[in-house]
Amino acid sequence: MFHTQLDPFPQNFLWGAASAAYQIEGAWATEGKGPSIWDTYAQVPGNTFEETNGKVAIDHYHHYKEDIALMKEMGLGAYRFSVAWSRVLPDGEGEVNEAGLAFYENLVDELVKQGIVPILTLYHWDLPQALQDKYQGWEGRETAVAFEKYCRILFERLGTKVTYWVTMNEQNVFTSLGYRWAAHPPGVKDLKRMYAANHIINIANAKAINLFHEMVPLGKIGPSFGYGPMYPFSCDPEDVLAAENGEAFNNAWFLDVYCKGEYPKFVYKQLAKAGLAPVVTEEDQAILKKAKPDFLGINYYHGGTAQQNNYQKQIAEKRAFSKVDPYLMQAEDGTFSPEETMFATAENPNLKKTDWGWEIDPVGFRVALRRIQANYDLPIFITENGLGAIDQLTEDKKIHDPYRITYLQEHLLELQKALTDGVEIIGYCAWSFTDLLSWLNGYQKRYGFVYVDRDNQSARQLERIPKDSFYWYQELIRTNGASLISHT
Ligand code: BG6
Repeated sequence: MFHTQLDPFPQNFLWGAASAAYQIEGAWATEGKGPSIWDTYAQVPGNTFEETNGKVAIDHYHHYKEDIALMKEMGLGAYRFSVAWSRVLPDGEGEVNEAGLAFYENLVDELVKQGIVPILTLYHWDLPQALQDKYQGWEGRETAVAFEKYCRILFERLGTKVTYWVTMNEQNVFTSLGYRWAAHPPGVKDLKRMYAANHIINIANAKAINLFHEMVPLGKIGPSFGYGPMYPFSCDPEDVLAAENGEAFNNAWFLDVYCKGEYPKFVYKQLAKAGLAPVVTEEDQAILKKAKPDFLGINYYHGGTAQQNNYQKQIAEKRAFSKVDPYLMQAEDGTFSPEETMFATAENPNLKKTDWGWEIDPVGFRVALRRIQANYDLPIFITENGLGAIDQLTEDKKIHDPYRITYLQEHLLELQKALTDGVEIIGYCAWSFTDLLSWLNGYQKRYGFVYVDRDNQSARQLERIPKDSFYWYQELIRTNGASLISHT
């Protein structure tokens, strides 16, 4: 599809950048903050890359004014950050830590003073450790109740100052890394527990949205989902069906609950057959149905490619030898998960990759935006998109990162095409403003517009140095996106 001319970006388009508390704040045990599951997890040798952790991170807690001054210099319109739950409620549900809450009040005040729209994420993976210990974290319904309490405190204190709120960051990612792959806390490999926790998180998300609509009628709230469109590997109808299955399991399973208040029937049925479906009470259904997000936050990095798998043949063989339902057999012997029987993933030969093997697919960004609009018809806020790379600091203290500029340029051009197609997009937050801690890749995988001089072993002076991409984005913001086309 080709447009002879692209629509300009809307006048009120929010040009932003994003971060998350654990990845930048440091001050992990300062002024009353309680430990989070990430503080605990990162202390176990072998859990993270070269034992990196967020104890100091880039010490944004003590440098936030300096960081906001750089945002102001750049002309940034919006800044997405997350609140560390255990800084506000050290044990997750009891006494408020006023010093912790004051940090976020000051941060918001400073942003507003500098004319930057704050976007507040309520949960970016750092669950209070106390809730993990008491209630098995997201597996306990008590944690959803605690989340509602925590949200109430923030809505009360910041509801008049912050318009845009994000509930959960990438529920799809943190549940699968935490419970399918044991690569994030709580370090479990158990699909039944994953789907059970995922359901409680859905309830927590819905409770937060419902409460927000009572308490902050002028605000906007929605989850941020890590969306990756699924492509069929070929036009073989079996591959097309595999891609449909991939979309259903990877995306609709989450987005339907957020936007329609119910699980997609196809996926739920397959999980139920395998004994993996979550228990959904009538009360749950009512909570989920009532919660309508005002926008969808989308984090886009890449999609995936699906092809038919060879499990069908193996299942047929199993069926021939057994009267047991093959889905149950899979769940019991742990050989297959239901989705593994429905699609296999494949490499896309058309795409280049980052240094970390992530596919680079700007057109997939437009595909994603179009599909989301078609299926859910909500305004979209791009809450993350960016390139992780190794940057070199030159002797004269410069960082030349043309690869990052190219990446962002190509993605933003596709975003502009999607806008021209008719997709409603509120704004775009690049990941990330400063360099920060990558959960599993330490400090060497850099995403920021601003270089932070530290490495995996030493925090050094944490000097902030704008990269070439900083000045490129500054110009883009100044021209409200017009420089995008003139540079193409
Ligand atoms: C997103 C997360 O999944 O991807 C961020 O919301 C994260 O917190 C980003 O940093 C990039 O991931 P990684 O693994 O490259 O740091």
